Amino acid sequence: MNILAIESSCDETSAAVVSMGERERSVLSNIVASQIEIHRRFGGVVPEVAGRAHIECVARITAEALGEAGLDMEGVDAVAVTNRPGLIGALLVGVNFAKSLAFSCGKPLVPVDHIRGHVAAAYLSYPELEPPFLAMVASGGHTSIIDVRGYTDFREIGRTRDDAAGEAFDKAARVLGIPYPGGAGMDRLANDGNPNAIKFPSPAMAKETLEFSFSGLKTAVINHVNTANMKGLEINRADVAASFTKAVCTAITSHLSTALDMTGAERLILAGGVAANSHLRRAVGDMCRERGVGFYTPPVSMCGDNGAMIGAQGYYEYMAGVRADTSLNAFASGE
Ligand code: KG4
Ligand code: ZN
Repeated sequence: MNILAIESSCDETSAAVVSMGERERSVLSNIVASQIEIHRRFGGVVPEVAGRAHIECVARITAEALGEAGLDMEGVDAVAVTNRPGLIGALLVGVNFAKSLAFSCGKPLVPVDHIRGHVAAAYLSYPELEPPFLAMVASGGHTSIIDVRGYTDFREIGRTRDDAAGEAFDKAARVLGIPYPGGAGMDRLANDGNPNAIKFPSPAMAKETLEFSFSGLKTAVINHVNTANMKGLEINRADVAASFTKAVCTAITSHLSTALDMTGAERLILAGGVAANSHLRRAVGDMCRERGVGFYTPPVSMCGDNGAMIGAQGYYEYMAGVRADTSLNAFASGE
């Protein structure tokens, strides 16, 4: 079946058409309009500005997605939309647009959780992949370890107490002079640095809890750079990036290893914007190989927010009987 999906939870407006079935998982179109340039001058996403930017382009992006898929609404079997978690004003734009489109065209409307969508991005790259598995979703807004027992059976077993991993990357990047969002820039800079140059605090809390705290690490990097600047000392930016990255990778890998012990999972999915990080992909991939656990991660292009991942999860929600009526609302928090 063909699913038209709309995503507007943060700073990307996206519409996609995916063709999903028992043996089919293909992306017919996946248009992403990024607002990064708009938010860059503020050093981060400004929620109201994001909502306004979504409303300006959601209809055009959707028409483009249908056009590229060679379909009109006649050929669409269901409309999927992200309705949580995210920036409320941003989510409302996508939800209201999808609702109007679905009901005016007589199509079923399927609400999708954004975090589930990140996980579902992996289905589009691995046609044989199916639950159960362990999933790590690390993005600008979320850091969760999830025991995925079925396509719509998600149990969060680890989370961050404060900042998300991506937020820490962006703040550390900012103090190093890398423009927002700095994750990809930090990734490149870390290639030239010594990961053992500076000992930063670990964002992994006590092992048993599988909890993270990224705020201490973020503050440590900011203090390190500001103190050096105040003393007029030269800092090696690449060493800071590499040491920060090592602290993140070690913490995530260690908690994932514990979570694998706890769940006995045989497969692990690494997803979300931060999953694009080459050092993290390598560290988690190596850990899985050593343990004989299957490692799956979407290509970098599918790690960030996009409509196709929402369409993929939308299919499984649809198959599980999930439907929304005209009262569908958006929610800032997760389930
Ligand atoms: O999943 P995503 O596109 O949006 C949210 O749902 O938040 O994630 C965006 C986050 C940003 O913080 C960005 O800096 C980070 O993902 N990111 C990276 C990399 N590419 C994007 N972080 C580390 N390394 C990267 N290569
Ligand atoms: Zn996301």
